[in-house]
Amino acid sequence: MAVILDGKKLSEKIKKELKEEVENLKKQGLREPALAVVLVGNDPASEIYVRNKIKSCQAVGIRSVDVKLPEDITQEKLNDIVKELNEDEGIDGIIVQLPLPEHLSCREVIEYISPEKDVDGFHPENAGKCLLGLYEKGLMPCTPAGVMKIFEEYGIELQGKNAVMVGHSNIVGKPLANMMINANATVSVCHVYTKDLASFTKEADILCVATGVPHLIKADMVKEGAVVIDIGISRVNGKIVGDVDFENVKEKAYAITPVPGGVGPMTIAMLLYNTVKAYKMRMN
Ligand code: GUN
Repeated sequence: MAVILDGKKLSEKIKKELKEEVENLKKQGLREPALAVVLVGNDPASEIYVRNKIKSCQAVGIRSVDVKLPEDITQEKLNDIVKELNEDEGIDGIIVQLPLPEHLSCREVIEYISPEKDVDGFHPENAGKCLLGLYEKGLMPCTPAGVMKIFEEYGIELQGKNAVMVGHSNIVGKPLANMMINANATVSVCHVYTKDLASFTKEADILCVATGVPHLIKADMVKEGAVVIDIGISRVNGKIVGDVDFENVKEKAYAITPVPGGVGPMTIAMLLYNTVKAYKMRMN
């Protein structure tokens, strides 16, 4: 039976430290950090994510500014709203919840966010700093940063290991693969066009999966003693499940993240971390 990598517990620890840091700022007579959360339309899943982000801000003393916009907003108007938030001295972080309605370009709006306020770490400037390993000079994407924190917390060494990233999205797969390269792992990136996925996953000492395909990874695709990081979240028959067949894989792995309670809570903790970091970078 594998070690359960408890992202919920680690996220609580990070949030407690951030809460103390924000309280200290206020004691010094400084204002609290502030995060603007932009939601376009009323996609029910996005509404839940946004509500969770706002609730988590409140829990650590970050001020949140809820910007709700109509489904039919134009690209130009959305860009203008982001520009106003960039210029607002009282705002430290800006996120535009994805996905956007089809007529809008997320690439375009992300490029409008000032890199200094891009707490999702999606702006090309931050992506470049991530590529180069200049983590302290920018804002890193929350989910990959959260996974790296899990490795650190549990003493999971990457150097010289075979790491396999399944999924090559801009927000998880590419940056996480890149962070593992920076940590001197030998990294393979697989995705929907990969031939014979199992031939890669079976060789993985570290297996990270972010595809959104429920239970894609079965026990016979996992190496004995592997570390398995499940970054998927789907709802199947009303139950939240990951991309990994947890019940069977946990008997074979050395360590595994559960869904829920693994990577998910870490993503939010890192968003709050980035918001406080953005505040400090702007104040200095
Ligand atoms: N939609 C799904 N994940 C994310 C995320 O990390 N940030 C934003 N802005 N939207 C998302």
